Amino acid sequence: MLIHKASDLTYADVTPKSVYLDRRKFLQAMGIASATAVVGQRLFEVAAPSENVFAGTKFSGVVKSPFSTTEKQNSYEDVTHYNNFYEFGTDKSDPAKNAHKLKTANWMVSVEGDVAKPRKITMDEILKIAPLEERIYRHRCVEAWSIVVPWIGFSFSNLAKLVEPTSKAQFVAFQSSYDRGQMLEAKWAGIDFPYVEGLRLDEAMNPLTLLGVGMYGESLPNQDGAPVRMVIPWKYGFKSIKSLVKIKFQSKMPPATWNLAASNEYGFYSNVNPNVDHPRWSQAKERRLGEILKRNTLMFNGYGDQVASMYNGMDLKKYY
Ligand code: MTE
Repeated sequence: MLIHKASDLTYADVTPKSVYLDRRKFLQAMGIASATAVVGQRLFEVAAPSENVFAGTKFSGVVKSPFSTTEKQNSYEDVTHYNNFYEFGTDKSDPAKNAHKLKTANWMVSVEGDVAKPRKITMDEILKIAPLEERIYRHRCVEAWSIVVPWIGFSFSNLAKLVEPTSKAQFVAFQSSYDRGQMLEAKWAGIDFPYVEGLRLDEAMNPLTLLGVGMYGESLPNQDGAPVRMVIPWKYGFKSIKSLVKIKFQSKMPPATWNLAASNEYGFYSNVNPNVDHPRWSQAKERRLGEILKRNTLMFNGYGDQVASMYNGMDLKKYY
């Protein structure tokens, strides 16, 4: 049975693993050892055996969030076939082709650092932390394209409260999974792994900051950061780190992958700001996937009412 109420849903209850195993048996029976080698890309996408035990889990009883935009959502196809997930390749089409190798069985997120109650959390436990919400957010990539996505998750603050950050905690550091065996393309990406990111504590605790477990009514597709990721809608997309395995509360500003790679181009804050250009291109406009004409980029990606006060008195040209 794939449909559960969010409140009583556990990943252990659902059967996507057997679905995946059946698909695998089917491929083996067909004599298809490597689907890529034998068939065209389209069929490959349908038939590739996903290593994600949560794949296709449907969430029901998901509550609608008042934070959602009423703007037109992008299609599932757009959101799952135009991705940045450098562990699986640097072309926008690479993650859809390669991320099926991401193994999610026994996924654990370690929540540690300056907290009274450090712990390791399973996906089943994560799903029970707070009621699942659908949040339809604008997502603006630093490369000047944007999408509107119906995420599923809940405010990150719910998880933070569980571990009780101490007074030392001023920042939160995030780390993605990294496994060279699964992420063969990572060695060509030109950035260091594991992918890391960070937020100031008040940013992490802002109600808009989402711990995402799904999209379009079901669990996250691998290429979008299965099984759990961050979504920070007023910041450039690279802050929204995928496939989380570690969350650390700490006193020091944490390192961030793109800032480490090119600090003159990507700052720690990386708030969407049409008035501060990237050194190599303008940030004034963006192309919404599926649209031809560019639209104006909004300050804080249009979320200023909820977040601008966190940056009062800061020079946002300096703290880009
Ligand atoms: N997280 C990891 N682990 N690896 C990545 O390469 N890319 C970032 C971010 N999170 C990335 C990541 C960038 S650049 C963007 S724009 C968003 O993920 C893209 O999210 P999406 O593919 O779901 O749209």
